[in-house]
Amino acid sequence: MSSGWRYALRRFFLCIALLSPLCAVGQAVEQQTAAIASAHPLATAAGQEIFARGGNAFDAAVAVAAALAVVEPYSSGLGGGGFWLLHRARDGYQVMVDGRETAPRRATPALYFDRQGNPIRGATTQGGRSAAIPGVPAALVHVARNYGKLPLAASLAPAIRYARDGFEVDPRYARIAGLRERFLQDQASAARIFLHNRQAPQPGYALRQPELAATLARLAGEGRDGFYAGEVAQALVAAANAAGGVWQLADLADYQVVERAPVRFHYRGAIITAAALPSAGGVALAQSLNILERFRLGDARGPDTAHLVVEALRRAFQDRALYLGDGDFVPVPVDRLVSKAYAERRAATINPASATPSETLDQEQLAHAESGNTTHYSVIDTEGNRVAATLSVNWLFGSGIVGEGTGVLLNNEMDDFSLRPDVPNSYRLRGGSANAIAPGKRPLSSMTPAFVEDEKGVLILGAPGGARIVSQVLLAILDYLAAPQVDLARMVRAPRYHHQWWPDRVEVEPEGFPADWRAALEAKGHQVQVANRKWGNLQVVFKSKRDGRALAASDPRGSDVGSY
Ligand code: DON
Repeated sequence: MSSGWRYALRRFFLCIALLSPLCAVGQAVEQQTAAIASAHPLATAAGQEIFARGGNAFDAAVAVAAALAVVEPYSSGLGGGGFWLLHRARDGYQVMVDGRETAPRRATPALYFDRQGNPIRGATTQGGRSAAIPGVPAALVHVARNYGKLPLAASLAPAIRYARDGFEVDPRYARIAGLRERFLQDQASAARIFLHNRQAPQPGYALRQPELAATLARLAGEGRDGFYAGEVAQALVAAANAAGGVWQLADLADYQVVERAPVRFHYRGAIITAAALPSAGGVALAQSLNILERFRLGDARGPDTAHLVVEALRRAFQDRALYLGDGDFVPVPVDRLVSKAYAERRAATINPASATPSETLDQEQLAHAESGNTTHYSVIDTEGNRVAATLSVNWLFGSGIVGEGTGVLLNNEMDDFSLRPDVPNSYRLRGGSANAIAPGKRPLSSMTPAFVEDEKGVLILGAPGGARIVSQVLLAILDYLAAPQVDLARMVRAPRYHHQWWPDRVEVEPEGFPADWRAALEAKGHQVQVANRKWGNLQVVFKSKRDGRALAASDPRGSDVGSY
């Protein structure tokens, strides 16, 4: 045995030891050439189990998503939706698998307004009308069949085991169930599953979900019909409608995953690939970075750079509100929005010395636009296949509606549509008719799974956090590109700020922004608001071009701390 080989073997075992996903929180974990970063150790372990069985990154992605549905049910699940950004190493093919939820056919804006024409409080966030038709199960079947090496049943096996045998509730689950205890108590089926004697369970409690195990097993055995037809479909329609929804069996039978070309652009020599519509994330990221490219950026974390980042975000979010919606339903001038020429004109309106108040920011008419809780994981395998996936049920535990006997918790993603330009959604996002509710339409999202390729290597990243997803991903990319040495642990820990055009203020995390930093922004005319909690849950994987090593790191925050 050569010493090189011995060294590699020793390193391999060291890495296996280090691979305990618990080690991954807030620090980089070294792996040989494959890596997974996710929001839960058991989900990461599910993906690793699939690697060990010969699966590729796409099989592992199916396993991680299904496991998250079981162990992090407040963030994502079979009753939700998501975007999977895929890179196939064999031929460099890149695609976004769009498993975003759709509005039921009988959903119209009128359902969400009272007779006086006022929005009905809570209609988009609570009850059957808040739930859109889930896309995750169809997307798992699609990814496994078209990109995986293993049968779907093999990739779903770890999740089925977790659901059937139970898993130990961690402090994060206990904390989030505590936050949502009252809400869950009002939903008998959800309370039975997610609470223990109507209380948030304590850490260490074994949470079993035999009904969800059975639904996952149906999906494994029957493919999409195991979810979108038959007993599961009937139970979901009944549950949504018993809570005031307008679902029909045909809504589920008709649900289709769509493969879309991702948003792809160059930024100072790096190639960035990110989510396409109906996510606003990739477009906003491209617009922001294209604008920033017009400036010489100094210290990436200094207040002068922050001012420019905020001004870029302000402009991107303003365009989001006017132009963006599901491109299958409304014309969206994506090519023009992400063009360098448009960015140059937008950049020219930025004064490096002072903030542009949002209310005075003009917008070009680009086209006849008629007026606009979650989890992320990143995977790379030994062949170089990659997945960046962001999934959601929207709020923590979604709508709280569970299909009787299915264990499936429905989302409240209808809130991501815009009811009216003057009515912000729960992330305080405003939007216009491009993002109005229509039958079968997908609500606009902020989820931004992304890849960055430069001379250092490949970064795979994404995060939950509503509108703050875009700024999290943007800041992480700027940090990555600015640092000569890649430091993932630092990247996931770094303090965050955010601006979304409206409300017109820079939100900053409570730690990490000293008074002089804030004063420097205020001196430029920004209103700076220190948030009472940190936000986000960035999950990053990096593969070095130099030595082929893959590293993974998870945000020490946990997504719950950042929820609105
Ligand atoms: O798709 C979206 O933009 C939202 N439904 C995401 C929600 C979210 O990230 C909540 N996380 N804390």
